[in-house]
Amino acid sequence: MDRQERRDKLIAKREQASLGGGEKRIESQHSKGKLTARERLEYLLDKNSFEEVGAFVKHRSTDFGLDKKHFLGDGVVTGYGTIDGRLVYVFSQDFTVFGGSLSETHAEKICKIMDMAMKNGAPVIGLNDSGGARIQEGVVSLGGYADIFYRNTLASGVVPQISAIMGPCAGGAVYSPAITDFIMMVQDTSYMFVTGPNVVKTVTNEEVSSEDLGGASVHSTKSGVAHVTAANEVVLLDQLRSMLSYMPQNCEEHAPMTEYELGDEEREVLKDIVPDNPNLPYDIRDVIDGVIDESSFFEVHKDFAENIVVGFARLAGRSIGVVANQPAYLAGVLDVKSSQKGARFVRFCDAFNIPLLVFEDVPGFLPGTDQEWNAIITNGAKLLYAFSEATVPRITVITRKAYGGAYDVMNSKHIGADMNFAWPSAEIAVMGAKGAAEIIFKREIASADNPEEAWKEKEKEYADIFANPYRAAERGFVDEVILPEETRTKLIKAFKMLENKVDTLPKKKHGNIPL
Ligand code: HXC
Repeated sequence: MDRQERRDKLIAKREQASLGGGEKRIESQHSKGKLTARERLEYLLDKNSFEEVGAFVKHRSTDFGLDKKHFLGDGVVTGYGTIDGRLVYVFSQDFTVFGGSLSETHAEKICKIMDMAMKNGAPVIGLNDSGGARIQEGVVSLGGYADIFYRNTLASGVVPQISAIMGPCAGGAVYSPAITDFIMMVQDTSYMFVTGPNVVKTVTNEEVSSEDLGGASVHSTKSGVAHVTAANEVVLLDQLRSMLSYMPQNCEEHAPMTEYELGDEEREVLKDIVPDNPNLPYDIRDVIDGVIDESSFFEVHKDFAENIVVGFARLAGRSIGVVANQPAYLAGVLDVKSSQKGARFVRFCDAFNIPLLVFEDVPGFLPGTDQEWNAIITNGAKLLYAFSEATVPRITVITRKAYGGAYDVMNSKHIGADMNFAWPSAEIAVMGAKGAAEIIFKREIASADNPEEAWKEKEKEYADIFANPYRAAERGFVDEVILPEETRTKLIKAFKMLENKVDTLPKKKHGNIPL
């Protein structure tokens, strides 16, 4: 072979690899409204930044005629590139090759870039579109999955890991995304389940479609498995880029600051959000939007456990994580799901040095058998534990109710918050005045000539003493009572003051968060 022939051979192989399973299967992929593995990477990464690793890898199977069926790359495109100029490692499963199914070599390719990401301290992004374990390969494919799960676990808390589900993700394959930090799903074309509709029908006699069992809407509203959903693949990839901009490259770094020139930071809009009547709802997102840099809120888990709102934001260019009770939904009460949602987000922020800002308006934990039987004790403890162990800068703003155990849990000073502000509308007490009066003045109310009137009087007495922020401020549990319009200025200064915070936990192998 002369030099030209050798060059031509390489060029031909590159061409072959770029076609994956071939033109017909690419057409079929497009006809389902899906991009190919390479098109997705091209859109996700900065222009011309992608460098492929392992394009010529082939499987080693010989059973079931596979020795005669080879596709270069073996169903996954792996490599590295940049997003907004920052290094990321990527794998993108190619459904046109054996349905994106995972073989031994396919797994090796993913493991290789995960190992590189760990050594070089950069995020791993997985674009999942796969029929699961390569059925013809048997146990070596299962072993390949386990190799990936193991790395996902070791990488957890070291580099950010994001999974985008852009097609099927079934069986044990779901457990790699499940261990990663965030799962994003495309509406109508992606689904995730441990056992599919056929197995469900056989075992439980339940008839259910793939979409109803594990589509994007199910996982974003009912199970909470998906953190972000998007109407189509392009929107999802845009969101992925955006979400990454709030994160550092690894646990040793801080998230990038965006440029911001301080000016007049008073926000008049914050004055009138909390209604005079403490029992009326308002949308905590109005408070968040009023405080943070304009349009900088990236909400995650938007449609799941809506009584708590979590997401990334910027404050004078600084990336922060926001956790906020939502009075517009179930009065902002804490329950099993909202505690889980909040805890997971707090732990992500803490692992990656993202300061936490908490807005508190919480009437307590949700009572009832449903909650108790579903372990609100264990689950509520997750949020308490997550805040307590977080060493990042932590600030709380109490906008209204801070009642009962929920006062302690929602990033109180007692569990390590650095600064605690309260608005004049804050009510910091063991419980609401009505319930409190009923319990502690039970006898007086019962023996009064007009019990109803007596109850109201006692309610007012309790409210006058506790339905304000001043008792807590006298104790130093609140550092400062501030006017709502001052909040942004106060927070910008406080986070700046905390930017070199050093805090450590007692030496231990690892804690035992109540899972
Ligand atoms: C090998 C597979 C495959 C697989 C699909 N293909 N899944 N090849 N192993 N797991 C191949 C098909 O043979 C076909 O090849 C091509 O991919 C496209 O598949 P279609 O069925 O034509 O596509 P579609 O109709 O869109 O259906 C997609 C699908 C379906 C729903 C994913 O293919 C399917 O149900 N696949 C099997 C899913 C499954 O049970 N996987 C194992 C899960 S258990 P040709 O040559 O015709 O193009 C598991 C265990 C992991 O994953 C455990 C880890 C702990």
